[in-house]
Amino acid sequence: MISLNIEKTLGFISKENVFAYEAQVKAAQEALENGTGKGNDFLGWLHLPSSITKEHLADLKTTAQTLRDNCEVVVVAGIGGSYLGARAVIEALSNSFTWLQDKKTAPVILYAGHNIGEDYLYELTEYLKDKKFGVINISKSGTTTETALAFRLLKKQCEDQRGKDMAKKVIVAITDAQKGAARVTADNEGYKSFIIPDNVGGRFSVLTPVGLLPIAIAGFDIEKLVAGAVAMEKACGKDVPFAENPAAIYAATRNELYKNGKKIEILVNYNPKLHYVSEWWKQLYGESEGKENKGIFPAAVDFSTDLHSMGQWIQEGERTIYETVISVEKTQHSLQVPSDEANLDGLNFLAGKHVDEVNKMAELGTQLAHVDGGVPNMRIVIPALNEESIGGLLYFFEIACGISGYILGVNPFNQPGVEAYKKNMFALLNKPGYEEESKAIQARL
Ligand code: PA5
Repeated sequence: MISLNIEKTLGFISKENVFAYEAQVKAAQEALENGTGKGNDFLGWLHLPSSITKEHLADLKTTAQTLRDNCEVVVVAGIGGSYLGARAVIEALSNSFTWLQDKKTAPVILYAGHNIGEDYLYELTEYLKDKKFGVINISKSGTTTETALAFRLLKKQCEDQRGKDMAKKVIVAITDAQKGAARVTADNEGYKSFIIPDNVGGRFSVLTPVGLLPIAIAGFDIEKLVAGAVAMEKACGKDVPFAENPAAIYAATRNELYKNGKKIEILVNYNPKLHYVSEWWKQLYGESEGKENKGIFPAAVDFSTDLHSMGQWIQEGERTIYETVISVEKTQHSLQVPSDEANLDGLNFLAGKHVDEVNKMAELGTQLAHVDGGVPNMRIVIPALNEESIGGLLYFFEIACGISGYILGVNPFNQPGVEAYKKNMFALLNKPGYEEESKAIQARL
């Protein structure tokens, strides 16, 4: 089970002031439960974990098996909320090097549709040329340019390379029940498809097929992942007392820090496999809270790597930051530092110690140094990098985000700001229907 410790924020803010949020947290929880707050048509994620049925998981696993049986590589095409959750979980749980090995137990998972890099797409299509590959086309709207562009390339290549019949078997769509190009294509071509519920926004969709299908294809246990999320749904429920509810405390503490001038939250990990959990978290909090000219800026670092690049800024830069550290209690593997007769590197004092003992001391030493340097620290401890812990962590961040956004007073479930760039891009590309915008934007250049 996940635990949260806020002791190292208390030299900067008081426990009394954090606990003073109890009523606001309660109000936020009621608004979420009763659907009376802003964005209340996007609350499908709230009790999603406990509503996932065995039949649904079985359906996902059957499709995953079809792709596992017929593909060496599966390309997940999606962006933002239709991409980051799957990648976060897959990278957190995967062996860092098996994809480089010849003998594989699961298809290699690659990603596309999350950028418009010509070289990226060229190199991907080149790599796929002699591979038996499949594609998951993930788009709630079904019209996102980045994803549609990548899918157009991949669909054609898959059909050309593997034949129409096999392509039908190994291309899957995850999209809206009725509308959007991805739905129409899936229905016309007869692809297996899964639905993204209307009331679940992209950044809250990791426990829908958007995340679950790629995760199952990669070989991870989606039942355990969901079970971990269900456990957190209980642990963070509205009837859990404030002091015992980690999501309530996290939401209250970050709002209190923000009120005290701490405008940037840095999510810290000491395990490179958590890099994409941080990317997922950045979208979740950034898109949910960054509006109406307010919101904590979500940043992330991978330690100890980034201590050698960002460490200076964090230790001595502008004091507008705080850190939330994700600490993993137990490693999956065991590796001890060997003794060395010459001891030229002077590391014999570590001989016989587990590498993780060194990492944990780096973590503790950094926390104390950063607190001394004026950086409040929160600490989230998860038992291990396994399905249960990661499922729990994802739900913990989602529910805390809903509560935190309501405390801040924004609608945490919309993202009006992301349309601005799209409008300009379409105008610049002379998309039909954007004639007026094209003229206006050309005049500005
Ligand atoms: O959270 C969001 O709404 C966005 O990040 C979307 O997930 C992203 O833009 C992809 O949208 P779609 O799934 O419609 O292709």
